[in-house]
Amino acid sequence: MQLTLRKMLHNLGALTELSAQISSTQNFEEVTRASLHTLLGTLAIPRGAIARFTARPRQLKVVAAKGLAGTVGERFVVGRDEVERLVSRMRPIEVAEERNGFAHFVRQNGGAFERLRARIFVPMIARGELMGLIFLSDKLTREPYGEEDIEIISAISQHIAIAFYNHRLLLSLKRKADENRRLYREMRHIYRDTVRAFGAAIDLKDAYTSGHSDRVGKYAEAIAREMGLTGQSLEYVGVAAYLHDIGKITVDRAIINNPRPLTDREFGELNKHATTGYEILANIRHPWDEIAYMTKCHHEKVDGTGYPQGLRGDEIPLGSKIVTLADSFDAMMTDRPYRSRLPLDLALGEMRRHTSKQFAPEVVSAFCRLLLKEIQGLTRERVIIPIIGLKFDREAAENQLTSMLAELDGVRPKYRSAAS
Ligand SMILES: [Fe+2]
Repeated sequence: MQLTLRKMLHNLGALTELSAQISSTQNFEEVTRASLHTLLGTLAIPRGAIARFTARPRQLKVVAAKGLAGTVGERFVVGRDEVERLVSRMRPIEVAEERNGFAHFVRQNGGAFERLRARIFVPMIARGELMGLIFLSDKLTREPYGEEDIEIISAISQHIAIAFYNHRLLLSLKRKADENRRLYREMRHIYRDTVRAFGAAIDLKDAYTSGHSDRVGKYAEAIAREMGLTGQSLEYVGVAAYLHDIGKITVDRAIINNPRPLTDREFGELNKHATTGYEILANIRHPWDEIAYMTKCHHEKVDGTGYPQGLRGDEIPLGSKIVTLADSFDAMMTDRPYRSRLPLDLALGEMRRHTSKQFAPEVVSAFCRLLLKEIQGLTRERVIIPIIGLKFDREAAENQLTSMLAELDGVRPKYRSAAS
């Protein structure tokens, strides 16, 4: 009686140990090996192996073995009907028993059974599915397996089966997650390419500002990065910049390409492009809602004199303030029908003159920092200089930017910065 009690406690201990092993985060092969060792140790069985079942290809493959050198990787052929019978059997099966119902399976895999020195094999079943087989040799005492042994073997094999099932589930979830991540990345690329293609299409309409959207996109991304934006916030400022003039596709080409100063009516027509752009973009489902609104506000001025809404300071989204500066800088640095491009010092002078009026000081400051770093070779890659070229006096530009930065340092925006 006492012996039985001790044995039960021992078995209970083994099961607890097994549960701990199975739920641990160790690598799965390790868990399988440890589970096999626990099972063999509990019943003093010198040799054993665990084979995992896969449906495609339909086979059993040894994944862990003890006392059976060179048997890991051994494969068993198994028929569809044999799989079904193993599932319904669930109990340990004597290899030598003629009428065990698996004579064909044993004969067909005779060599493998011999190499595993298998006396019994135990189907591992979880949720009605075959997970694998456990092969056990004779016990150390060579006594036959008793009723109690069979009970404990069945219990342990079910534990291992559940671990196999969970592991398979985990792998398939991981595969799905990887696949989703890949698809998401692909969609982002497609989205980005589409945005750039749109930008290029907008630019085609304007004979004088070829590549404008592309340059504004690049400037805006670089300024946003300099302002500390990262990840999605950075990306959506870039997208808004590439698309900022999309509303121009509805403006008469004659107005856009008019070399003379525009009349009030023409100005009115042209200025509609901010609102039209918003209407176009608001109908597209972007990854980020802010994009349509950012483009709408790219002609707002921080002093409230811009259009279409006359927003002031902080009412204007940060992304729009960045696009405004990038847009104006590119306009100054490219030839227009009514004037040639400005030299850099004059463009910077204009920027300084319109700070806190048209431009947000924190954006001007970021732009100056960025350009200064590019001139001094302190950035990983240059964005502004490759676009504007090197036809400027480097030292003069450095001095001008440094003095602008010193001046801006003392300028506290009258409104709270949207970046803060
Ligand atoms: Fe515009």
